[in-house]
Amino acid sequence: MTALTEQGRGVRVRAAATPAEIAGAGEVTVAAYLSDGLLTAEHPYTRELRDAARRAAEATLLVALGPVGPGSAEPSVVGTLTLARHGSPWAEFAQPGEVELRMLAVDPGARGRGVGEALLRSALGEAVALGAHRVVLSTLDSMRTAHRLYGRLGFVAAPARDRHEHGIDLRVLEWTPPLAPGVAVEAATWPPLEVVDVDGWRVGISGGFTRRANSVLPLAEPGDVADALARVERCYGERGLPTVFRVGRESRPDGLRDLLLARGYAPVAVTDVLVLDGLGLTPDGGASSDPTTDLASGMLPGVIGDVALDIADAPDEAWLTCWTGVKAGASADLDLARRIVTGSRAAYLSARDDTGVVGVIRAAFADDWAGLSCLTVVPAARRRGLGRALTRAALDVAARSGARRSFLQVEAGNVGAGALYAQMGFQPADRYCYVER
Ligand SMILES: CC(C)(COP(=O)(O)OP(=O)(O)OC[C@H]1O[C@@H](n2cnc3c(N)ncnc32)[C@H](O)[C@@H]1OP(=O)(O)O)[C@@H](O)C(=O)NCCC(=O)NCCS
Repeated sequence: MTALTEQGRGVRVRAAATPAEIAGAGEVTVAAYLSDGLLTAEHPYTRELRDAARRAAEATLLVALGPVGPGSAEPSVVGTLTLARHGSPWAEFAQPGEVELRMLAVDPGARGRGVGEALLRSALGEAVALGAHRVVLSTLDSMRTAHRLYGRLGFVAAPARDRHEHGIDLRVLEWTPPLAPGVAVEAATWPPLEVVDVDGWRVGISGGFTRRANSVLPLAEPGDVADALARVERCYGERGLPTVFRVGRESRPDGLRDLLLARGYAPVAVTDVLVLDGLGLTPDGGASSDPTTDLASGMLPGVIGDVALDIADAPDEAWLTCWTGVKAGASADLDLARRIVTGSRAAYLSARDDTGVVGVIRAAFADDWAGLSCLTVVPAARRRGLGRALTRAALDVAARSGARRSFLQVEAGNVGAGALYAQMGFQPADRYCYVER
């Protein structure tokens, strides 16, 4: 379920898809290792580094392509990273259930632009999609820049696994994904208006507004899969809606995704479930701002200018118009939107300036989780810190409401939101894909 993600500045990360990308990955790996003085051009290991075709065949070869963006030339490979599951010839340290990262390399001419971070973030998302309960990598003491990056992403030293080989000290680092909320909690924060049970598959129906509320959660294996499929398709077809399945680690039966693709379904959106553990602490480890003071003052903490925040236990028309305006355009059915977002206990935050509502977010509660959703800033007010301030305020509200952890869902290709959430300390915990016909 490899996602196409765009994270670093003007960089797109994906599994190498063409012979040119694979060859480019080989060249970039060699160039990076040579320029860092990690080996000489004559060293036999350069052949292995250059042989990206083998890595693509026997593991997952990610490439970072850049530059991308309006007016950019044809992008080329500026970085690469390999993911190897336990048992792959490329896994040297991975134990069962672990994914190992190998040969992170960024072209010497493309450094300092977030390419390495984009590759690593993408790899962590990919690793959780593969079901990894841990990600490992080995590094040399001399790779200082990489160490800072690994630390920022949450890798920790595992000295008991360090090795001394061929006169070299290899240090092992581990990253453990946060606990995922699970489909039941996710669904509880965004319940469809109607749910039809088709032999264990939960068919959500909500007038076609949002895939989340209009898709099948295939959580149990039906006795007769072909019959269940036909019934589900009839169910949506009778309502004039496309059939959409959410497929991920929890989907039943195994192999459902391939079955649906063979039946003419197309993947439409790869989505990451990101988690922030330990609410009440800011990502930099300090105490959170005092929400009572910040909210009582009516000002968004950290926002320059006169943008005021309010919180309500139901969305007003301005809140709904702001959210649906960006999501679905002016023609959205506000009443339908209201019925969907008010299906669970939630708080609705609005940011207002003298032009009206310029940003919104929703925090919904299930168990000890707060699910953030609907984050929207109107285009004219972007890149002024509002998205960050709204997210932080929603987390404060969530902490005050007793939530201990927060999750959100973001499409893997959503550049801005992905960067924002990563900065706030959210980490990948799960990944799923919608397939539609
Ligand atoms: C995502 C969104 C809410 C961000 O709102 P915003 O007010 O522009 O965000 P901020 O100004 O607080 O940005 C905070 C940081 O996020 C990152 N970021 C935000 N937008 C970005 C973009 N388009 N590209 C790259 N990074 C971006 C930056 O690191 C930014 O910090 P910086 O400006 O200091 O570099 C806004 O782009 C939006 O409404 N998008 C459409 C709806 C959407 O995708 N919502 C998220 C659904 S999960």
